[in-house]
Amino acid sequence: MKIKVSPSILSADFGALNADIDSIQSHCDILHVDVMDGHFVPNLTFGAPVVKCIKTSLPICCHLMIENAEQYIKDFADAGADRIVVHSEAVDDLRGILEAIKALDCECGVSIKPGTPVSDIKDVLDICDEVLVMTVEPGFGGQSFMHDMMPKLKELRGLGFEMDLGVDGGVNEETAKICRDAGANLLIAGSYIFKAEDRAAAAQSLRG
Ligand code: DX5
Ligand code: ZN
Repeated sequence: MKIKVSPSILSADFGALNADIDSIQSHCDILHVDVMDGHFVPNLTFGAPVVKCIKTSLPICCHLMIENAEQYIKDFADAGADRIVVHSEAVDDLRGILEAIKALDCECGVSIKPGTPVSDIKDVLDICDEVLVMTVEPGFGGQSFMHDMMPKLKELRGLGFEMDLGVDGGVNEETAKICRDAGANLLIAGSYIFKAEDRAAAAQSLRG
């Protein structure tokens, strides 16, 4: 399965966002954009108006760590999102919102926090373009990778899930290998890429 590298702009310089994106995009596959509301996670980032200002040749994935996501998916689609990932813990009607994302001509995905089991999302795997397994508690960059999330990746592949299987949080060259070995093909990394002296080499190292 094709390994995809996805830089999380949470660790970029927001004052020079497009320049930072330009510095890595030729080495990456999907831009990862973290949207946080200060309720679902204890941190705030930005909304669709900022996504609209992003200039990139990469497809844009919006990782929505927000409540009431159904109110905002159209704004993110209109702002240029190619894929929208919601948290299973933050929505009541998971299939409904994933279908609504598809109806906006976007790809859809579902993310699970460390405490959420794969069984909670089994029923929607058939319509997901991506499942995102969090390997930290969502909210902040630069946290330590949770090795004990690897059985979830194996379980998802064991269930026959053949779309993008992502990991997010604490991903670096060493932990990326562990994730690939467990079945992940989509490697999201913020601080490891943007804080590296050689960002291109850091991004490439995740491919193994
Ligand atoms: C955390 C975000 C991540 C974050 C990862 O809640 O979803 O995308 O940017 O940061 P690193 O790679 O630094 O752990
Ligand atoms: Zn993220």
